[in-house]
Amino acid sequence: MTNKLDAFLASRKQMIEQQLSLYTERLDMPESLKKSMLYSLEAGGKRLRPLVVLAVLNAYGKDEKDGIPVGCAVEMIHTYSLIHDDLPCMDDDDLRRGKPTNHKVFGEAAAVLAGDGLLTESFKLITSHVSEEVSAEKRLRLVDELISAAGTEGMVGGQAADMEAEQKQVTLKELESIHERKTAKLLGFSVTAGAILADAPEDEIEKLRLFSSHIGIGFQIRDDILDIEGHEEKIGKPVGSDTTNEKSTYPSLLTLEGAKEKLAHHISEAKQIVSGLSLEKELLHDLCDLIAARDH
Ligand code: IPE
Ligand code: IPE
Ligand code: MG
Ligand code: MG
Ligand code: MG
Repeated sequence: MTNKLDAFLASRKQMIEQQLSLYTERLDMPESLKKSMLYSLEAGGKRLRPLVVLAVLNAYGKDEKDGIPVGCAVEMIHTYSLIHDDLPCMDDDDLRRGKPTNHKVFGEAAAVLAGDGLLTESFKLITSHVSEEVSAEKRLRLVDELISAAGTEGMVGGQAADMEAEQKQVTLKELESIHERKTAKLLGFSVTAGAILADAPEDEIEKLRLFSSHIGIGFQIRDDILDIEGHEEKIGKPVGSDTTNEKSTYPSLLTLEGAKEKLAHHISEAKQIVSGLSLEKELLHDLCDLIAARDH
């Protein structure tokens, strides 16, 4: 069944993908580096993070155009995080977005550098590729938010904590903190960036941070569930990777049923927060449902 969000995502996905390729193709760099960056960028994926930036702008009734470079920036960082996450020294996976992982095709050194390239160039999309209507102050705020979401206090720190939690029993609180940092913060950037670009009231931006934490943790719980119950041809990555690596996940800590209950709890909290905001609520409610029920 298609809902409002499905139609929204379908109508904007191609534009995001075109811009990601165009921006990277125009950069001056060794052809081999460009090839490996484009390989992972163009492999597909849901493009959820850029699309969420646009969805929040739309929900506030604002023009979506500056959401495109900002959304592409977060997608580049996300793609870099996946290339590095799959390396033999991390999760050691061979399949991503339905294709052999970057290091399988180009070698480990090229995969590390493709990630480095995507990470660094992403910031230029915010500093130099948004329209002049976005003030220097707002650009700086977006860069600052992205550093907090992607860096040591966000995704990178979460990935480090995730590696340390392998072959170990962690508490639920510790696991929630890992999921918050490795996944929720970056997805949260998309929500916050959309709200900042939309000139949303500051108190709503703060409420949206809490919303993001719930949907982001929920998103990673669903990912952990799909690592057990999913189908490789649908999720485009190996099933059972977490079990092989003895990862700390919600299903490993709480059982599959317990993980599903936690997911439902986070989704219901997120929906409740949306109900109190001054935006058009349908897209964000649909987003919550998508995260709860996604099969890839
Ligand atoms: C996978 O993210 C990594 C996690 C943070 C769980 P996605 O499920 O968004 O992957 P793509 O972008 O669609 O490939
Ligand atoms: C990693 O979580 C999240 C990232 C920051 C890349 P996972 O290791 O579970 O992601 P997948 O399952 O490989 O996509
Ligand atoms: Mg991982
Ligand atoms: Mg992984
Ligand atoms: Mg996973």
